[in-house]
Amino acid sequence: MPLVELRGLDDVVAQGRPAPPCIVVVFGATGDLNARKIAPALYNLAASGLLNPNTVVLGVARRDRTDEQFRDEMRGAIGEFSRSPLDRDLWNEFAQRWYYHVTHADRPLEYLALRHRMDELSRRHHAGASRLFYLAMTPDTFGPIARNLREAGLSESPSPESFVRVVVEKPFGRDLLTAHTLNEELLQGFHEKQIFRIDHYLGKETVQNLLVFRFANSIFEPLLNRHYVERVEISTLESTGMEGRRGPYYDRTGALRDMVQNHMLQLLSLIAMDVPTRMAGEPVRDEKLKVLRSLQPMNPHEVAASTIRGQYGPGPDMPAYRQEEGVARDSQTETYAALRLSIDNWRWAGVPFFLRTGKRLAQKASYITIVFRQEPIRLFYNMDCDLRGTNRLSIRITPNEGITLVCDAKVPGPRMLLRPVKLDFGYQTAFESASPEAYEHLLLDAITGEPTLFIRNDEVEAAWRFVDSIRSAWDTAGQPPLVGYSPLSWGPHQARSLLLDPYKDWQTP
Ligand SMILES: NC(=O)c1ccc[n+]([C@@H]2O[C@H](COP(=O)([O-])OP(=O)(O)OC[C@H]3O[C@@H](n4cnc5c(N)ncnc54)[C@H](OP(=O)(O)O)[C@@H]3O)[C@@H](O)[C@H]2O)c1
Repeated sequence: MPLVELRGLDDVVAQGRPAPPCIVVVFGATGDLNARKIAPALYNLAASGLLNPNTVVLGVARRDRTDEQFRDEMRGAIGEFSRSPLDRDLWNEFAQRWYYHVTHADRPLEYLALRHRMDELSRRHHAGASRLFYLAMTPDTFGPIARNLREAGLSESPSPESFVRVVVEKPFGRDLLTAHTLNEELLQGFHEKQIFRIDHYLGKETVQNLLVFRFANSIFEPLLNRHYVERVEISTLESTGMEGRRGPYYDRTGALRDMVQNHMLQLLSLIAMDVPTRMAGEPVRDEKLKVLRSLQPMNPHEVAASTIRGQYGPGPDMPAYRQEEGVARDSQTETYAALRLSIDNWRWAGVPFFLRTGKRLAQKASYITIVFRQEPIRLFYNMDCDLRGTNRLSIRITPNEGITLVCDAKVPGPRMLLRPVKLDFGYQTAFESASPEAYEHLLLDAITGEPTLFIRNDEVEAAWRFVDSIRSAWDTAGQPPLVGYSPLSWGPHQARSLLLDPYKDWQTP
């Protein structure tokens, strides 16, 4: 019996077990997310032989399209965005099971026609009675869609062997109240077990490897606690600004809501969680939830002392954030956020966790660094040593996915000189096959009913409860003030002060 039993893509690949047949209904089929991520992911799953050959895809939106026009558009999107080149024969065969249907999400009567269309297509292609609804739409439509699907009899499984699931995209609310309302609205149409909330970070290979790395190796886990760890840093840095049409959305959202509440707190919960009783959806999410609930909401004084918020100014040939399209000229929205927080549980009490994220920074990179405590007695002190080396474990999520352990070694020669060296594992060199895209993993998991990598209702709300305490102090007390930073830098210099030691700085990629 293997120690780690991960179902989903790995398991399906290993066992050659195809996904069950179903109809995948993509709401928002004419939109950007479907073109960039969902359609290419479905294509790659089919190309890898992981989709059931009877799977039907039905795109839904308001714009008029014939099936042929929709297929042409999807062929173009897959050609542009797929990780593997479009194979004409494969697509021609797969495209015969792609359809389009006009439905206004807010018009209940149109769902009856949608139901007829789904039934007819499922019968024609022997796709069975299972349905996966993917809501690639703004969250204000989730409630009406859930209600209308229920009233049209589309949200319950028609037989015990079939399933009905719904995948929803971020943003999942903009605070605890809106997230709670959204959950209530979705629950009017579906049971919690049917709802798969996506955080595409969790579909990344290296993020999933965190679970394997921690719980399938006996050498690291005993060290990951307050006895051995001095601090943990989590950085998700972006070099882009407001390219495309991002400005209006981002200016209403900011770094704290856009990155910290979801991706960063998910990474935090994965690196800090206790060992689950089993490697399955509920036990893993129970442990992640405990971490999120151990984050004490901060009062305004703590927020002023433990957070930094920044906004990028102008750079050579680069507009300042406030000059970007769709951004208010006097915007107070943060494009950078850094926090020092503590996890109040027995494993981590007293260990500071540092999180930082931002736009227009020096490099695009996501990584977690665990810095270990110094050895209790420094035997090599006062020798001619370079003592800068502290043991560090660095987990690179992107780019150059892999794990590096930094430790000290003796420099060859007659003197006792020490230098830090790296023990390095790189995904690309260790495994020859290309990693699937996050959306491929997550879509297949949704079809096979594997919920581990999706966010549960209570996790979302616990994360918002913590983030709201920061947001409300920023908004009401105005502390700490919004500070500027230069594009292509590592962010505002004030962020260093969070580390509480003038000799320390954030780990760079
Ligand atoms: N794009 C990304 O990479 C990305 C990544 C993560 C999360 N998201 C989130 O995913 C959601 C969709 O993003 P997007 O970029 O794809 O947006 P988008 O390009 O604006 O597409 C929105 C889609 O929704 C459809 N739609 C809007 N109102 C509708 C209604 N009342 N009834 C039926 N269809 C309706 C639109 O089609 P018609 O106009 O034809 O009706 C279109 O297909 C957003 O919440 C976004 O924040 C997007």
